[in-house]
Amino acid sequence: MKFPEEVYSSQRFREQGAAVIELIANCLEDSISGKPNKVIKMTDPVKAMNEVQQWFNHCTADDSKDVAKLFADIYQRAIRLHHPGYLGHQISPPLPDAALASLFSDFLNNGMGVFEMGIAGTAIERFVVKSLAKKIGFNETADGFLTSGGTLGNLTALLAARRAKATGDIWESGVQQKTALLVSEQAHYCVDRSARVMGWGTEGLVKVPVKHDFTMDISHLESTYQAARARGVEVIGVVGSACSTATGTFDDLEGIGDFCRHHDLWFHVDGAHGAASVYSKQYSDRVSGLHLADSVVMDFHKLLMTPALATAVVFKDEKWAAKNFSQKAEYLWDDANHVDDWHDLAKRTFECTKSMIALKVFTILAVHGEQVFDENVTALYHSASEFGNLLEVADDFELATFPQSNIVCFRYAPEEQRDLDLLNRKVREELLSIGEFYIVQTTLKNRVWLRTTIANPFTKISHFQDLMDEIRRIGKRFSVA
Ligand SMILES: Cc1ncc(COP(=O)(O)O)c(C=O)c1O
Repeated sequence: MKFPEEVYSSQRFREQGAAVIELIANCLEDSISGKPNKVIKMTDPVKAMNEVQQWFNHCTADDSKDVAKLFADIYQRAIRLHHPGYLGHQISPPLPDAALASLFSDFLNNGMGVFEMGIAGTAIERFVVKSLAKKIGFNETADGFLTSGGTLGNLTALLAARRAKATGDIWESGVQQKTALLVSEQAHYCVDRSARVMGWGTEGLVKVPVKHDFTMDISHLESTYQAARARGVEVIGVVGSACSTATGTFDDLEGIGDFCRHHDLWFHVDGAHGAASVYSKQYSDRVSGLHLADSVVMDFHKLLMTPALATAVVFKDEKWAAKNFSQKAEYLWDDANHVDDWHDLAKRTFECTKSMIALKVFTILAVHGEQVFDENVTALYHSASEFGNLLEVADDFELATFPQSNIVCFRYAPEEQRDLDLLNRKVREELLSIGEFYIVQTTLKNRVWLRTTIANPFTKISHFQDLMDEIRRIGKRFSVA
């Protein structure tokens, strides 16, 4: 193809685009209808690399350079989030309209770092963040931004916590003292990573034990806090998990909020997964006390049908959205410390260039209304409860704890089998190679558990029954007594 006319050809785009949309629509129909399609066609990484080479060879040899044909091959190896057997990690089957927003924003490629480079995107981002802040229960002085994933969002919020509460100005002078956050044993690993990135090492997180439902046991907060201080560690805040990753259960945000207020500590809520409960009329009580937080992180790509990555970082006090990364970058902006420049987003976010994340969320809100978030969260949490009920009454299954969100953690535990860890590992491996269900695995209290996230509103009770039967069938083939 002749550069640049043919590679940028609008006519070629029109034809290829139509074929790609047709392909996606077919994939959507196939996936939602479930069988006979598999949710995953597992292979090993070396074979996957060989296939990529083949796709590359086919595409380069094909005179038509058919993008849809290439994508059709890729679809064969992609995990299918719209399939009702998808019960794996916490990521949403995106709404088709939101996928179109991704396509459009990728075409626009507005850089978003400064206002001129994303006029619509910057204003849309503010709209999205302000409406989420209101939902959380913050007032108009709350502010924030969107960023690339919960991991980066948590680090960003915790950097603000450090600036707000740590002695001295670590941002300017570097780390001079032992600093730490209190966090439950079940917090996502990215909180630990954040503490290490901030230079606090292993001691940067002080773990609070959990209760039987794997939520923070706040009766240990005071003693854990005092013990850390006695060791010479400056505790600057507490991170609440709403919800935790492994079991999907919610820390007592009201209790943690009160504790933080009492000790003048920063209260951060990692709501990457479950802060989306604010949208559900039925389940918003899961996050009672969220408004007490100084900062909240929420992923739109986990429960809210938005293509990844789409994360909000919201601060109760707008000052922290503005001041966190105060730095000079003369080639981008004139006065880096001018607090009111909310519209030059690179002053506030880790990213410099950033995609138009907000467009995906805004498109869903504008086209389907906020009620679609309510409908999805409510349906998924309800489904998880139904699955929990099935597991609870089955003699040969054990629930880690009754689901509070759309995450269900359980294991196959027939009486005659002793090594349940090995059995459940083998069951998952076999499920993966059959490919009709995709579930994951976790370790709780040194035991192996199967873990599911009900991500798809098309997953019904009959699918849970089929999954349990499939597990029984596989389990019976393994004798690990
Ligand atoms: C509670 C929690 N926090 C943070 C993260 C990380 O989010 P992301 O994958 O968007 O970086 C996850 C991901 O599973 C999570 O469950």
